[in-house]
Amino acid sequence: LDNGLMRTPPMGWLAWERFRCDIDCEDDPQNCISEVLFRDMADRLAEDGWRELGYVYVNIDDCWSSKERDAQGRLQADPKSRFPGGIAKLARYVHDRGLKLGIYGDLGTYTCGGYPGTTLDKIEIDAQTFAEWGVDMLKLDGCYSNSTEQEQGYPLMTKALNATGRPIGYSCSWPAYQGGLPPKVNYTLLGEICNLWRNYGDIQDSWDSVLDIVDWFTEHQDILQPAAGPGRWNDPDMLIIGDYGLSMDQSRSQMALWAIMAAPLFMSNDLRTLNSGARAVLQNKVAIAINQDPLGIQGRRLIKEKSGVDVFWRPLSGGSSALVFFSRRTDMPYRYQTSLKALNYTAGTYKMYDVFLEKPMPVLKDATEFVVSINPTGVVMWYVYPSTKWQEEGEE
Ligand code: GLA
Repeated sequence: LDNGLMRTPPMGWLAWERFRCDIDCEDDPQNCISEVLFRDMADRLAEDGWRELGYVYVNIDDCWSSKERDAQGRLQADPKSRFPGGIAKLARYVHDRGLKLGIYGDLGTYTCGGYPGTTLDKIEIDAQTFAEWGVDMLKLDGCYSNSTEQEQGYPLMTKALNATGRPIGYSCSWPAYQGGLPPKVNYTLLGEICNLWRNYGDIQDSWDSVLDIVDWFTEHQDILQPAAGPGRWNDPDMLIIGDYGLSMDQSRSQMALWAIMAAPLFMSNDLRTLNSGARAVLQNKVAIAINQDPLGIQGRRLIKEKSGVDVFWRPLSGGSSALVFFSRRTDMPYRYQTSLKALNYTAGTYKMYDVFLEKPMPVLKDATEFVVSINPTGVVMWYVYPSTKWQEEGEE
């Protein structure tokens, strides 16, 4: 969507995967969906170095609202113990910290969690309400609507958001409700009306779930890869790094693959208690730079080896590129031998930076065979510069 927003994949934090629809603020005050949780996350994003790295969205998901609209037919935050200050006040809190606020709605009778939905007749009023509150992003889910309503409603919301005059990033769950593939899904249209879109099912806190998502996105990369670009991104769902389901190697794999796929980087974790390993992966500057490359070209899988090694590649600005060697094996570190030439690199000398070892590597000629040792369910990720670039920059 050409609204000037999200020219690189959006980054931030989203409540759903980690905090779900926990509304029990009496017994679980720290973890329930309430303004306390979002203020806590805003504090952490602002104070723990996230904001400077680009993680600026604090996004509310389902179960934030009251079960009833107000007397004027507007959505309202659950007033009792959960959002006594209302969303506008929370938006100010978030903005005061240099961050942006995202909210969740659902095109349909109800949200997936059973809260009031945005039926076609409510699209304008809900867009207006979000804009008045100072919301910066809307995730519009698709439970409890049929395909005709979705076909009308998703583009209508684009217009309604635009008409508010407030820049609001727009995330559409539409394709996920239509199987994610043509002919049911029209990716050209999605690129025109949404800044990002969920293509596939919900991520869960497990490696199986990450792998299932990666498999689906790579299997259909010929369709998905061309759909992405500045202002329009495929969304394989949240980062679960720092939760309970991933090992350190698997955490690096999710970060590397999401970076290669030019995916939105929305963490869904508890930033208050994040361990230092997860933090290091999520705050890896070069992985983020790869994800945020201004060209905005989504990467692809180049090679699927019988050994269980996949090689992914993403072209980056300035003639640079990124490589990910990913092992699906579950036995022991695998020594994978190849050359840059075998990975379609043109003749020349290249300089590499190992993203997770955080070290430059010896210079490589395109034809030189090399070996990478890839941990089970792990990755080796390289940022690759052509020699012309580092010579120009006068580096060694
Ligand atoms: C759907 C979405 C999830 C989340 C839940 C909330 O399942 O895909 O990302 O928003 O609804 O109920």
